[in-house]
This record gives sequence, C-alpha cells and structure tokens, in this order.
Amino acid sequence: MGDGVTDIVPGDFVILNWRAVCGRCRACRRGRPWYCFDTHNAASPMTLQDGTPLSAALGIGAFADKTLVHAGQCTKVDPTAPPEVVGLLGCGVMAGLGAAINTGGVTRGDTVAVIGCGGVGDAAIAGAELAGARTIIAVDVDDLKLLWATELGATHTINTGGMDTDAVVAEMQRLTDGFGADVVIDAVGRPETWKQAFYGRDLAGTVVLVGVPAPDYRLELPLIDVFGRGGSLKSSWYGDCLPSRDFPMLVDLYQQGRLPLEKFVSERIGIDDVEAAFAKMHEGSVLRSVVMFDGAGR
Ligand SMILES: NC(=O)c1ccc[n+]([C@@H]2O[C@H](COP(=O)([O-])OP(=O)(O)OC[C@H]3O[C@@H](n4cnc5c(N)ncnc54)[C@H](O)[C@@H]3O)[C@@H](O)[C@H]2O)c1
Repeated sequence: MGDGVTDIVPGDFVILNWRAVCGRCRACRRGRPWYCFDTHNAASPMTLQDGTPLSAALGIGAFADKTLVHAGQCTKVDPTAPPEVVGLLGCGVMAGLGAAINTGGVTRGDTVAVIGCGGVGDAAIAGAELAGARTIIAVDVDDLKLLWATELGATHTINTGGMDTDAVVAEMQRLTDGFGADVVIDAVGRPETWKQAFYGRDLAGTVVLVGVPAPDYRLELPLIDVFGRGGSLKSSWYGDCLPSRDFPMLVDLYQQGRLPLEKFVSERIGIDDVEAAFAKMHEGSVLRSVVMFDGAGR
C-alpha cells in the first residue's frame, strides 16, 4: 500500500478498473468525470523480482496473482459477491452495460438493436433489459451467440451472415414497426456493422460505437444522410462508466438477482489454460473464461 492511500486498506474486496479518474482535468472539472482526459495508472513501473520490467495491459495486467495499480483503480464492492462473476465488471461487461445505459441512454419503452453478441454486446443487451427496453434485437453472424443473447434478454435475433446492409436494415425495421431502433449499439466496430447501426436506427435515434475499430478502417457515407437522419452518433469509452458509481450499484443488482452476470462466465480455468481459452474465444465457443487463482474463489 503506497503512502497517501486512505480510501482502501489491505484485504478490501475491490474490482479493478482501467480509467481511474483524476478529478482535475477539464472534463472532471466540468462535472463529466466519466470522460476524464487524464486517467491514472500506477506511477511506479511494475517489475519481476529480478527487475525485469513489465507492461501491464490497460494499466491493470491480468493473468498474474499480484499486480500494481493506482488506488483510484480499486473500487470497493459487496465482499460477499463471487469474484469470478463480479470481476467481469472491470472491463468488457461494464463497457457493454454502460454502452446501453450510460452512452445510449436506453430507457423504458425503447427499441434497441445490438450488433455483435460477444461479452460486450451481450452486456449491452442485459443493460437494455435492465433499463426497460421493450424490443431488444440481437444481431450476430453466429447462431450460438444469438442463443446466448436471448438468454440475456434479447427479444428478437437476426443472423446477418450473407446479408448486405440493406437487408439487415430492412429486418431491423421490420422488427420495430417499420421504423428502425431508437438505439443501435455496434459492439463489433467494423465499417459495415457501423453502417447497419447508422441506417438501422429510427430518425433522431442514437448510434453507439463500443466495438473498437482497426486503425485502417474507413467510412464513406453521404453527409446529407448524417444531417437528414438526425439524432446522435456516439462512441463509448468503457461504457462511459464511473467505477465508484457504477460498480457497487451493478454488484448490488447482481446480488438481488436483477442482473444475470453469472451467465457471462462460460468456464472457470487455471492460469495454464489461458491460451486455450483465447482459442475458444476466437472460435466463439465461450463468452468469458475466468482465471481462478488460489484463494480467489474463497
Ligand atoms: N469501448 C470499450 O471501452 C471497449 C471495452 C472492451 C471491449 N471493447 C471492444 O468491444 C468489441 C467486442 O468485444 P467482445 O469481447 O464482445 O468480443 P467477442 O469476440 O466476444 O464478440 C464479438 C462478437 O461479434 C460477432 N461478429 C463478428 N463480426 C460480426 C459481423 N460482421 N456482424 C455481426 N456480428 C459479428 C462475433 O460473432 C462475436 O459474437 C471488441 O472490438 C472490443 O475490443 C470495447
């Protein structure tokens, strides 16, 4: 524990986050800390015992039984919650939930479509259900993912394999009284999926891009369509979450049986199984594989 750390003590049950807000940048000062432009990570470099420097992914560094983070990256939550379930809030599951609830502002009665139903997209579906959406369309190219999406709250599914953008949009419109969805969340991040989101939403609707595009992806579309269709086109960084606000609340909802976070845990594995788990994720046979360390399951 470093000097000056007062909010947490050894033994606290915390979820790690990768956007510890600074409280001082221009976004924080304007009361929008979820956009913080100067988020904190540990100031000291992490090393192995022999001094070999380590670079922690996203300033957290998973796949290790010890790590070094900034105190602000630790959010205390209900210590009776199972760590292998609620720990998922530390990254993609929070990003998806927040894409729906925070960035998309999904509210009671909305129609929502989510493109890409992996861990992030399914969390957006769970978030849309939690917020009271009346129609939730899961869109993927994999039938197994669509099945899981229905278990997390999707009311309709579209397998877009082999369909062009017009056909996908027509199907989204058919499922929303001919209009398109109020909020469409792209949890893939490819030009074609973003266009499906852009044209698959209702007039004045919202597009949320939470999937991370590759640097060489390009978009081309008529600017008049951007104007004429109105609404808002947003990106979602980590679900625009505020860990201190969102993690304890979402853990409480899970504990009350109102947020089925356990459905994201496809398997519990040991550290030696990590490579195989990545292969399963690539082939689409798991949503999330959670590494269990000694004592972590308590
Ligand atoms: N914005 C953030 O802060 C944030 C945080 C975490 C992850 N992400 C990003 O979210 C994205 C999704 O992550 P994930 O963990 O859910 O990945 P994943 O691999 O578990 O899921 C991706 C899903 O998209 C589907 N898919 C692929 N191509 C498709 C297409 N053309 N049309 C429809 N569906 C398609 C796949 O079948 C799969 O179900 C990634 O780009 C990831 O980097 C963003």
